[in-house]
Amino acid sequence: MMNIAIITGASSGLGREYVRAVAEKMPELDEIWLIARRQQRLIDLAHTLPGHRFRILPYDLTTASSFRKLRGLLARENPHVWLLINDAGAMHTGPVAAMSLVNQEELITLHAVAPTRLVHLALPYMDGPWVSHYQRDFHRRFCTGAKYDRVQRQQGLSDFLH
Ligand SMILES: NC(=O)c1ccc[n+]([C@@H]2O[C@H](COP(=O)([O-])OP(=O)(O)OC[C@H]3O[C@@H](n4cnc5c(N)ncnc54)[C@H](OP(=O)(O)O)[C@@H]3O)[C@@H](O)[C@H]2O)c1
Repeated sequence: MMNIAIITGASSGLGREYVRAVAEKMPELDEIWLIARRQQRLIDLAHTLPGHRFRILPYDLTTASSFRKLRGLLARENPHVWLLINDAGAMHTGPVAAMSLVNQEELITLHAVAPTRLVHLALPYMDGPWVSHYQRDFHRRFCTGAKYDRVQRQQGLSDFLH
């Protein structure tokens, strides 16, 4: 069974740095799945990390079709998901009143609905104890100070990853 990590927001900023860190510290992974809309940036990042296998997934996490594709991919590949990093996000500056409702709803979808869907999709491919074990391991290796709650797994993932 293929061992993978899934990292969203991989095309820039913190997400790109997570990709570099995971590639360096988790050589046991067979593939790292990279999610963001800008495909070329994901490809360019993969080229900077030779010796690792990447799956380039140019998905917009505000669209249902992206989740359909990911669900299908997970079902076909049936991987063991060792790690899920929900990093995709966006920031708007300025008064809320100046933001259109469409933009506000997109932000909520990206920051709240998408991570919930991703955790829901990935959990069947993660062994319960291994999730906890590995998240704690990841925590120890990468994220000193982050919280992880073994019992409330989904909330714990969210606390841990953000
Ligand atoms: N930097 C900060 O000071 C700060 C503070 C608090 C929280 N955060 C949060 O930390 C995370 C990373 O921050 P950052 O500064 O590294 O952000 P960033 O450089 O702007 O990166 C955001 C990432 O999210 C992806 N993304 C945005 N919208 C997307 C969508 N609809 N579908 C799929 N991917 C999408 C972007 O890729 P594409 O554009 O290619 O899709 C990009 O890879 C974000 O969630 C941010 O909200 C950051």
